[in-house]
This record gives sequence, C-alpha cells and structure tokens, in this order.
Amino acid sequence: MLGLNIKYKFFIFLLSATLASSYCLAIIAPLPSLRVGTTKQSILQERLLLPLKDRDRNDEPPRSRISFNKDWKFFLGDEPNAKSTTYNDTKWRKLTLPHDWSIEGKFDEKNPAKPEGGGLPTGIGWYRKDFIAPANFKNRITTIEFDGVYKNSEVWLNGHFVGKRPYGYISFSYELSKYLKAGKNTIAVKVDNSAQPDSRWYSGSGIYRNVWLTSTSKVAIAHWGVKVNPQLSKDGSKVLVNVGTIIYNKTKQNQTAALINSIYDENGKLIKKSNPYFLKLDTTNLDMTTDLSIKNPILWSVDNPKQYKLVTEILQNGKVIDSKTTLFGIRSFSFDAKKGFSLNGKSMKIQGVCLHHDLGALGAAVNTRGMERQLEIMKAMGVNAIRTAHNPPAPEFLDLCDKMGFLVMDEAFDMWVKKKTKNDYHLDFPAWHRRDLEDMVKRDINHPSIILWSIGNEIREQFDSTGIAITKELVTIVKNLDRTRPVISALTETDPKKNFIYQADALDIYGLNYNHKKYKDFPINYPNVKFLGTETTSALATRGYYDTADSIRRWPKDGKTKFTEGNKDWAASSYDNVSAYWGSTHEETLKEAKKYEHVSGIFVWTGFDYLGEPLPYAWPARSSYFGIVDLAGFPKDSYYLYQSEWTNRPVLHLLPHWNWNTGKSVEVWAYYNNADEVELYLNGKSLGKKSKQGDDLHLMWNVPFETGTLKAISRKGGKEILVKEIKTAGAPAKIELIADRKVIKADGRDLSFITVKVLDKDGNLVPNAANLVNFKIEGEGFIAGVDNGFQASLEPFKANYRKAYNGLCLAIIQAKEKAGTIKLTATSNGLTSSSVLITTK
Ligand code: GAL
Repeated sequence: MLGLNIKYKFFIFLLSATLASSYCLAIIAPLPSLRVGTTKQSILQERLLLPLKDRDRNDEPPRSRISFNKDWKFFLGDEPNAKSTTYNDTKWRKLTLPHDWSIEGKFDEKNPAKPEGGGLPTGIGWYRKDFIAPANFKNRITTIEFDGVYKNSEVWLNGHFVGKRPYGYISFSYELSKYLKAGKNTIAVKVDNSAQPDSRWYSGSGIYRNVWLTSTSKVAIAHWGVKVNPQLSKDGSKVLVNVGTIIYNKTKQNQTAALINSIYDENGKLIKKSNPYFLKLDTTNLDMTTDLSIKNPILWSVDNPKQYKLVTEILQNGKVIDSKTTLFGIRSFSFDAKKGFSLNGKSMKIQGVCLHHDLGALGAAVNTRGMERQLEIMKAMGVNAIRTAHNPPAPEFLDLCDKMGFLVMDEAFDMWVKKKTKNDYHLDFPAWHRRDLEDMVKRDINHPSIILWSIGNEIREQFDSTGIAITKELVTIVKNLDRTRPVISALTETDPKKNFIYQADALDIYGLNYNHKKYKDFPINYPNVKFLGTETTSALATRGYYDTADSIRRWPKDGKTKFTEGNKDWAASSYDNVSAYWGSTHEETLKEAKKYEHVSGIFVWTGFDYLGEPLPYAWPARSSYFGIVDLAGFPKDSYYLYQSEWTNRPVLHLLPHWNWNTGKSVEVWAYYNNADEVELYLNGKSLGKKSKQGDDLHLMWNVPFETGTLKAISRKGGKEILVKEIKTAGAPAKIELIADRKVIKADGRDLSFITVKVLDKDGNLVPNAANLVNFKIEGEGFIAGVDNGFQASLEPFKANYRKAYNGLCLAIIQAKEKAGTIKLTATSNGLTSSSVLITTK
C-alpha cells in the first residue's frame, strides 16, 4: 500500500484508489481546501474525473532536455567584451563540446601547470553560442546545465551575468528564463584556469563535460528533484521504494496538480503505479515523499547490475505537464569492523582502483565510450570498485558504473582550507564547500553504484585540531541529504590520537591510505572501527620495460633525499619491484589485504596511468607511472597479477619479453591461477615445474637467455589448462592494426581504439620497437588522439603520427555523423603497412 508523508507546509491529498487508470485529472477551477475523509472529497472527485476522450492533448513536450554541445565558438585568451551580444566572434574557432583546450596544446616544461599538472598549457578561454530560445519559452522555464567546467566559469546570457562557479569538478545549472528573448540569444562563458599551479594532477581546461538545455512547464519537477531510496526488507523479499520529489511552481499563482510515480523493470514492463497524489502548490517548492512497494525485487550487484526505472509524472488539467525518468537499483550493503564488506548479504572484498578523470590522449574532454573502454579494461582485470580520485566524476561515468556493475566511492575534495598547491580549491573552499558538497550528493544520490561518500583525500586538517569542526560540518551536510550511505575520508595519519579528522568522531568508516603494514593491528589500535584501504600501493612501472628484479626499489626512497636513482630513459621496471616510499609493490599490499577479514578491501593507486604527477621523474616525464594499465590503455604486467587473484577466469601470464643478450640471466615470472603448477620450457627443454608456496603471488625461474621460444604450461591434476609462448623477435617488418570495435555509431562521438603493433616477419611483437608510424584516415571519421603509453613522450596527442613505444602505439578514431566507412592506414619507413576498416552506423 502507498504511504504518504506530508512535508513542510503543503497540503497533499491522496486521491482515492478508485481513480482508475482510464481517468485522469482535470482541475478546472481553484479548489477549496480539502481534508482527507471530508464529504468534499466526493464532490472533488466528480469534478476531477473526466473520461479519457475529453483529455486535452498535450501541445508541447512535458519536458525537453537537449544536448547543448554543438555550434559553440571558442577563443583561447581573455576577451572581456565577449560577454556582450554585439561582440563580433566571426573569427573564433567553431567546435562541439565537450572540449579541453589543454590537451590540444604543446608540452613545455615552462607551462605554468608544471609537469605535475601534465606540462600542458592552461590559461583563460572564452566560449560563445548563438541559439534560438525553446518554443513557447515565455510560458516555460529554461535551464542550462553544465556537467563540469574547469574552472572558475562565469556565464552571461544576452550580456546579463547569470552566475559563476569556481569548482571545476562540480555540475551546476542556471535558469535562463529571465533574460531569454525571441529570436537570437547569445550565451557567453569565460573559463579561467590561469592561476597555476592549481592541481597535483592534470585537470584539463574548458567546458570539458556535457552541456544541456532543459525546458519545462512552470509547474515541474525541480533539477535533481527526484530522490529514490529503496529500502530492502531483511529477507530480501520486499522493497519499499521511498521517493522524494521536489516540485516548483513558478507561475506566481497557487496551483493544483497531481503526481503519479510508476516503476518499470529493465524490460520496460510496468510493475507498479501509484495512485495520483493531489498537490496544492503555492509559489515555493513543494518537497514531498511517497512510498511504493515491490515484491521479490531483482537486486543490483556487481555481477548482475539490474536497474529499475522510476517515471515521475506531474499532471494538470488532464495533461502530463512534466515527466522525469530516474534509474535506480535495489541493493543492501554493509561494512563490518570484523567481517569487512558485504553486498546483498554476501561477504566480498572491495577490489578497487582509484581513477583520475582524464582519458589519456583525449584529455579531460568527456567521452562516454572512452570511459566505458576504461571500465571494460578494469572489469576484465577483476576490479569491482572505483574511487573517483579526488573529485566528483562526470555523470556518465556513474551511469556506466551503475550499468556495468562497479561500486563507487564518490569523492568531494582533495583539500579543505589548507592548500596543496598555491591556487587550488582551498581558495574557494570557505565560500563554496557547502554548496559543492550538497550538489555532489544531490546529483549522485540515485546511483546504486555509489556506496561511499568521501569528504576528502589526505586532507591536511587531519594533522591539527581545525580538522574536528570541519569534519563534523561536512559529515552533517552529507547526512542531512543522505543517511543511507557511510561517509568516509581517505586518511594517512595512523595514530588515532593525532588524527583530528578521526577525532571528530563523525566518520562511519576509517579510510586508510597506504600503510599496508598497519592493516594487521588495526582492530587493536581502532577497536570496533570499520576499515577500508582507500588508497594503496603506488607502484611504478613503464609498460614493457624490465630492470632485473633482484631488489625492490623505493623511488623516491624518502621525503628528503633528491631522487637520483632513476633510469636514464625515464622508465620504471615492470617486474613489480618499484614503488614510492610511502607505498608498496602490488604484491606487498595485496598479500596484506587478502590476509585479514576486517579489511573491507582496497583501492589501488591507480587503475590507469594519468596525465600529470610523473613522480619520481623530472621533465620530460609528464604522466604518472602508477597505473596498472598505461595511458594508452595497454596493460602492464601487474594487470595479470590482479586478474589471477581477482577473477576466476584461468590466467597464465609470462614476463618479460624474450629479446636479450645471449648468456644474460633473465628472471622469468609467471602469474597464474586455477592450476596446481606451471612448467617452463626454453626451446622445448623443460626448466622445471613450480607452484606458488605460502603467500606467493608469482613464480620465478632464472633462465640464461638463448634465442628461441619460451613456453609455459599450467596444469591442474595433470591436465593442461593454459599454454603461453614468447618468441625472440627479429627486426621490425610489418604493422598490425587491431580495432577494439569495427562497427561504431555514426553519432559524432563514438570511438574505435586501434592498437598498432610493430611485428617481425613472423608476426612476433618486437618488444623494443620505436618505429615512427604515420596514419592516414579516409571516410566518415577522424583521429581524435594518438598515444604510445610512454610517460616521457613529448609528442602531441592530437596528431596523425606516433612513435611506437616498446612495440605498440594507439590511434583513437572518432566517428563523424554520417553513416559509412572509415579506413585507417598505418605506414612506417621500411615496414609493410596495414589498414583497417571501420563501419559507422
Ligand atoms: C597519494 C595521493 C594521490 C597521489 C598518490 C601518489 O598520497 O592521495 O593523489 O598523489 O599519493 O602516490
């Protein structure tokens, strides 16, 4: 049965269940005040019930929300007059959003963002767009929504200032109705990312996320105005779906309306429809909650991420005047101080990675397929959770996590009042933190993937008493909006008495960064405290690069000594044997996390390499070495370590490559699972069988190099499970192109990622090939970016050429809007060229 709360000052009247679906509401005259159960109820019903045939037909869509990405003009530089309608922008560059101007620029050590910020240009940029106001705009509410602008955006409509928003990772909107006019309108946006350094990683610059234009009637559901809270019964057989709805009335007169909520399953089948609620609206917002119940719900999980659809409709005078669809998932989860994490009553470890927002060669400019590919690569590795380090992500990223089955730790800030870089968000925190934090929760609250709100990463205030009050304030802000999810912060201070964020006694879970050796005694030092490894590892590696694994290197070795140990070619070994001193190798942390039930899980720093923070190297290094996967999306060897531990799929991975000087003693490693033993052969001769002992996570043989074939066979009960071979490669002879998708959408956005391999004449990858590859593209696509995953390459990402690094490079092809074919041809001096055909539909 439906439940109903009356919140705040409005009168909500639940119409009798006899209002059958063949009838609708027609409120034709101002209604008298009504009370449930009075005789007036029946009079009202008579007046409201009109047969379906008398319904007014809707003459405009109840709500339109259109992409507002096209036909912008852009100018790099400051142009204060560009806010004016009369400004002449004919010479400006035309482009489609999302757009990141930094990624288009040249790497330069002198760029003010510094190598830590990616070594690319920042500055000020202006965007302008002319548009025609939505139909009937005078009787409607028109809103522009920005998913994210980095940063300090200011917006003008027809010369009138409409607002500013400093934080570059937050979504925001402005109502435009007041300044809209018939005919041409001009919106101007100034983006100011000139005060540098402002970030410890690459931020990107510009309107780098999607923009939307929404038009609603004057009585409508508010922006982020639907909040779904499904409450699952203990036995999982029932769910009470509590729906909060905020409705505005901007007509300047009292209004009556009705609200209906309907729930559909993922096949589009209606499974529950509420009776209409009668709403009496004055000119302020109505905030109401209603309940619907569902029996035997299908639960959302990481393996079966099923979602339901809620459709909220507002009716007036027999017409649906607003309608909003909200996806939601039904799941329960808990963190336990002794038993760790469980989802839907089943205990599981959080196998997480931290991700920054950039998409490598595409920069910060949001592309849904680019994000989906990253998540596919993570999923195949066994990742079940993402921490959005250290800021709210693009909304599409969360949609993908819901759809693909990832748990999410949604993070608000990397700093509070105390700075990490000179011009970072600490400057805006005092004035904006409440608004930004509230908006993050309001925007993201319906995502089933989100299980944690993080109020900050390694916040400096943990070290002094100012941390107490701020923690309490931020936790209260979150809890006032959402009591269904725990609040966490990623901390580094492990002494409970010295950690003032912990001392605030407001967090639900202790999030510890690094310090894997403290996992064991955590329950002793923090009795009954729930525990999660919010950030771990920080191992360093360059794909396909190997120094001997004789010792573990800490690069840098401490916080004081100048780093001098690195390789001359700015690379780090891919035997899991290099890490920052505060971190560990992948295996070191993985072993500890596995051991203890109280460890809910870990978020490894990081899933992918990201632009900026090229620690420990100096220029020309300009992107990070921490990724399990390189910047181009090619897995490093540790990828297979996680795959062997975090998935049930059979894994057998051999490293390194097999091109060495004769006689050199090479350490051959194997990651494997689902087998009792692995036998290694060199040129057909067995080098012995081995199996992991104790807490081993890999096998190792010392093998004197000789040219030929290295082969490993994993066996279980004597039965062959997998075979892996690596051959000594000859000289580069030809190119191979492999598209991740050969058919893509002709929507102007979709991507095909083309892996370019440099092979010898027999088809073996040449493991140190560095050939320059030139690309020619024909047909309905263009090259959106190129890369090779090397952290110190200063070649541009927007180009039609790329040098291979350790045998590989990447071309990212983007579809135009016309269906057809795309042909990419790759050529290189002295190599047989290759082409690939992509169809766009
Ligand atoms: C952490 C920090 C991350 C990143 C990482 C590199 O302390 O939270 O943002 O800087 O170190 O190891």
